[in-house]
Amino acid sequence: MSKSIKKIGVMTSGGDAPGMNAAIRSVVRTCAFHNIECVGIYRGYEGMIEGDFKPMNARSVKGIINKGGTVLKSARSKTFMTKEGRKTAYQKLTEANIDALVTIGGDGTFTGAMVFNQEYDFPIMGIPGTIDNDIFGTSHTLGYDTALNTVVEAIDKIRDTASSHNRLFFIEVMGRDVGHIALNVGVGAGAEEILIPEEDLGLDRLLESLRRSKASGKSSSIVVVAEGDKIGKNVFELKDYVEEHMTEYEVRVSVLGHMQRGGSPSCFDRVLASRMGVKAVESLLENKTNFMVGLLHDKIALTPLDKAVKGKSEINMELLRVSDIMTT
Ligand code: F6P
Repeated sequence: MSKSIKKIGVMTSGGDAPGMNAAIRSVVRTCAFHNIECVGIYRGYEGMIEGDFKPMNARSVKGIINKGGTVLKSARSKTFMTKEGRKTAYQKLTEANIDALVTIGGDGTFTGAMVFNQEYDFPIMGIPGTIDNDIFGTSHTLGYDTALNTVVEAIDKIRDTASSHNRLFFIEVMGRDVGHIALNVGVGAGAEEILIPEEDLGLDRLLESLRRSKASGKSSSIVVVAEGDKIGKNVFELKDYVEEHMTEYEVRVSVLGHMQRGGSPSCFDRVLASRMGVKAVESLLENKTNFMVGLLHDKIALTPLDKAVKGKSEINMELLRVSDIMTT
């Protein structure tokens, strides 16, 4: 193991995700295991620029494996996008004798990390944490599994009221650019239709599908819509459109919003976070840098950060067909 890395900084950045705390815990304890100092950096790149650092030891992370959110707080930093901001960040890290970084976040976080590494040759490892699961090089990002379970539970509850009133519900779920959440919860909660950014179903086909559903004897329906869906209408416009063209339906909208990002992480996310934290620290100690730790075929694997950022995280199109068959 390298002698040069003696102190590692860990931070969370971008949208928080359940499992981030479990990853922080793992990074801190792996450092302790290898007798390396660890420093928590607060509010992502914002805190890095301000030098908002706190030494962490194995006991600082007790009782957080089951907590949602992030004890280190998070932010989407605009200042770090500037050269000046990154220069200040580098100065603060150097003053604090931090030799390497573990950044937990999504593609925005990794893009910042890559630029920083290019400019200052600073050793960095990324851990993917976002409920969207939109990162190439890992089958699962931290928080995704928990979010799926949270959303399915919410839809099950909406289903109760939808069927009591014979209503059609449009339910908007998170996923700016990808439909992983929508597609999986759609199948998991037995939605009649799933609208995702990867496929343009079209308004006519949506109406057709709803008519078929009604004709087959269904009295209530659930349509799951990813926030980045291709039809281009938001859930409220969809409601108006369907009500206008299908007077037989009473329609309601539910935007699940940020509740999808909260809650205690699932066992899957806790285990994944623990594995990823160990790998991130040990890879830095082996002098590896500019990689993201991911899960591929149930094995922890490294992907170069630029590939993780530029690559496309593909959704499982087979699920769309499964959904079609299930809604027969
Ligand atoms: O973290 C990903 C995500 O939750 C997206 O699904 C969503 O579009 C976005 O973050 C919301 O970001 P913010 O909390 O900054 O409004």
